[in-house]
Amino acid sequence: MAKLNVNGKVREFSADEGTPLLWVLREQLGLTGTKYGCGLAQCGACTVHIDGVPTRSCVRPASSVKATEKIVTIEGLSPDGSHPLQKAWVALDVPQCGYCQSGMLMAAAALLKAKPNPSDADIDAAMTNICRCGTFNRIRAGIKAAAKGGDMKSASLDIQHIALANEVTKS
Ligand code: FES
Ligand code: FES
Repeated sequence: MAKLNVNGKVREFSADEGTPLLWVLREQLGLTGTKYGCGLAQCGACTVHIDGVPTRSCVRPASSVKATEKIVTIEGLSPDGSHPLQKAWVALDVPQCGYCQSGMLMAAAALLKAKPNPSDADIDAAMTNICRCGTFNRIRAGIKAAAKGGDMKSASLDIQHIALANEVTKS
């Protein structure tokens, strides 16, 4: 049996050479928070961290990950959903269908670790994931709020923009 270090635990798996890490996480280890979208390293739904680096697990063979490398999935981001990004996501109602959001959170968490106070350009460069529901404005607002220690006012410009658009539609 091969071994992986996932969310702080050593886990065993058995898979053919070339099997993507995503399938080992989901089907053998039961970590179904990480999603399959495109399978082509395009959408980012499958993003996990490997030694802190956001990685698209749909194209990374599990056999290429050493047992000493630390994998973190959405289940391991915080023990109880209390990561500052998760709190901001809830406060700002970021998700719509939710399918892309595990990958978004993992990409955003890696960004904040590297750049605790990211600029719009930093967010644009790091957040290359795709959301079919178009939650990009709120994702940006959530990252800014988390970067400011949960200050939701720091996110308000983007949300006001949405609120204003709603007012215009009603009038
Ligand atoms: S499923 Fe991996 S990038 Fe889309
Ligand atoms: S919230 Fe639906 S795809 Fe992003």
